[in-house]
Amino acid sequence: MTAQELRRKYIEFFRSHQHAEISGKSLIPENDPTVLFTTAGMHPLVPYILGEPHPAGERLVNVQKCIRTGDIEEVGDESHLTFFEMLGNWSLGDYFKDGAIRMSWEFLTSPQWLGIDPDRLSVTVFAGDDDVPRDDESATTWQEVGIPKERIHYLGRKDNWWGPAGQTGPCGPDSEMFIDTGIPGTPESRPGVSDGKYLEIWNDVFMQYNKTGDGTYEPLKRTCVDTGMGVERTIAILQGKRSVYDTEVFQPIIKTIEELTGLRYGAHTAGNESTTGDATPETDRSIRIIADHVRTATFILGDDNPTVPSNVAQGYVLRRLIRRAMRHGRKLGLDGEFLQKPARVVIEIYSGFYTGLARAAATILEELQKEEERFLKTLQNGEREFEKMLPNLLKGSRREIPGRLAFKLYDTYGFPLEITEELAAEHDLTVDREGFEAAFDKHREKSKLDTNQTFKGGLADRSDHTTALHTATHLMHQALRDVLGDHVSQKGSNITPERLRFDFSHPDKMTPEQVARVEQIVNEKIAADLPVSVATSTLEEAKAAGALAFFGDRYDEVVKVYSIGDFSKEVCGGPHVEHTGTMGRFRILKEQSSSQGVRRIKAVLEPAG
Ligand code: ALA
Repeated sequence: MTAQELRRKYIEFFRSHQHAEISGKSLIPENDPTVLFTTAGMHPLVPYILGEPHPAGERLVNVQKCIRTGDIEEVGDESHLTFFEMLGNWSLGDYFKDGAIRMSWEFLTSPQWLGIDPDRLSVTVFAGDDDVPRDDESATTWQEVGIPKERIHYLGRKDNWWGPAGQTGPCGPDSEMFIDTGIPGTPESRPGVSDGKYLEIWNDVFMQYNKTGDGTYEPLKRTCVDTGMGVERTIAILQGKRSVYDTEVFQPIIKTIEELTGLRYGAHTAGNESTTGDATPETDRSIRIIADHVRTATFILGDDNPTVPSNVAQGYVLRRLIRRAMRHGRKLGLDGEFLQKPARVVIEIYSGFYTGLARAAATILEELQKEEERFLKTLQNGEREFEKMLPNLLKGSRREIPGRLAFKLYDTYGFPLEITEELAAEHDLTVDREGFEAAFDKHREKSKLDTNQTFKGGLADRSDHTTALHTATHLMHQALRDVLGDHVSQKGSNITPERLRFDFSHPDKMTPEQVARVEQIVNEKIAADLPVSVATSTLEEAKAAGALAFFGDRYDEVVKVYSIGDFSKEVCGGPHVEHTGTMGRFRILKEQSSSQGVRRIKAVLEPAG
C-alpha cells in the first residue's frame, strides 16, 4: 500500500463513520508562539478541543504535515524522521475511549481496510498515578475487541500520557498501538522499548484536561479524542519493509544521492551484492540524513506560511537542517552545492497531494541554493580563522584545540564542531569536546531563558488582549484594502499577547499618511463599538458573499465567517471579541518590507484614553 492509498483509505474509513474531512494546516502555526512548528495533527485544533465549536462538526478526520526536531540525533535509524505526515481522527465531545478504540481496531485489522494480522498487534494503556487513575476502560475495550491480556501493557506518564507540544494546552492519557516488526527481539523487548522489535504506528489520546500556565490540570468541559497515525511508518510495515527509507516516499530521493555521490545505498542490508567497497553503515546513515533533511527543508520552504533560513526561530531550524545535510554531503565527498537535485525529487513525489509545493518550486530551489552558497562562504571564512589560530595551536604541547576556541569558531563563524575536528585532524590536533560542550551549555542556558519568554500566549491563550488583537487584525486588513486598494491580501499573520504582525501583498513602502489613515480607520471602527458576529457557510458561499479568504487550498469546505459590523467579513477560526468598543487604541509600530512585493506591519492595542 502506497502513502497515497493509505491517506485515501484512512479518510474514506472515517468518513464512513460520519467524520468530516478537514484540510491539513500550515507547518508553521500562524497565531501560536508556543511552538515553532506544527508537531501533531491536534495542534491546529487546540481551540476546538478547548471548547470552541468546529464548523465542520464534532467528528473530524485529516492528514497533517508535522515537524519534530527533538529526535534529530536519531534520524538515520530505521524510523525517526524530522518531517512526517500524521493521519488523525477527532471527537470533539462525541465518542470517547470505547468508540475510538473500536474504530482503530476495525481500521487496522479488517480485511476491507489495512487487514493487519491481529496477532502482530499489541497495545499500551496508562498505568495510573497519584493524579489520574489507571485506564481500565481502555484495557477492557481492547480485550473485548480481541487483544489478549498479555499483549496489553500498562505504562506510566512517560509513555502513555500525551501532553501539549508547548507547555500548556489539552492533555490526557493515551493508548498506543504497536506492531511486531518480526525482527528477533530480546527478553527485554516490549512495546515502549525502542529496540526495533515493536514499532508504534498509532496513538489514541483521550483529552480530559487542560494544563494551564500555572501548571494545574483543569478538567475539560467535554472530553475529546485526538489520534495520530504515522504515514511513513505504517506504509513501511504494510509493504514489509524494515525501514521508512525503503518506501516509495524516500527511495527516489536516495537514488538521486546515490547518483550524486557514486555510492550505493544499502550497505546495512546483509548480503547486498551491489554495494561498492566504499559503502558502509556510516555512509548509509549520511544518505538517510540528507534525504530526511532535504525533505523537511523543502516542506518548510514550500509551506503556505513560508520561512527562509535565518538565525532565529523556524528560520534557524531550517538553516540547521540545510547545513547538517551539507555536512553529511561533505562526508560523502560532496563539497559544493548539491541539494537542489534531491529537493526537486521531493517536490515531484509530493506535489500530487501537496499542490502548493509545485507552485513554490522556484522559491524552494532558489532559497536552498542561496543558503548553500552562504554556508560554503561560512566554511571558507571559518577555515581562514582556523588558519590564523593554527600557528599558536601548533606551538602548544597539548596538540589540542581548547573548547572555547572551538566554540568561538562555531558561535561567531557558524563553523560546525565536526568540521573543526576534521581540520584539526589534518594537522594532527584534537578538539577539547568537553570544553566545547561546556561553553555550549552555558550559551544554551542563556538562550533557554530567552525562549521561555515566548511560551506565553498562543492558541491556548484565550486572554482578552490576544483575542482583541485577532479582531484588530481583521479591522486593519479591511482598512489596508480601503486605503491601498483591493490588491492587498494576507500573506501571513502572527499574534503574541504583546502585538500583532501582519504580512500583506503591496508593492511599495506605505507613506506616513497612509499609515496614519489606516490607524485612524481602525480606531474609528473601534470607537463605533461594532458588533462582531459569526456564521457558518461553505467556502464558496463565503467568497460569494464577499468574505476575505486567502491561503489557497488550505481551507476546509465548511468555514466560519466573522463579520465586524458591515465593515469587515473574513473567513477565520476565531476567537474574536463580541464588540469592538473595549479593544483599546490601535497603533502601528512599524511598516517594513518582508520580502519581494510583501510588506509587514507590527501593531499594538494600547489602553484607551
Ligand atoms: N497527538 C497525538 C500524537 O501526536 C495523537 O501522538
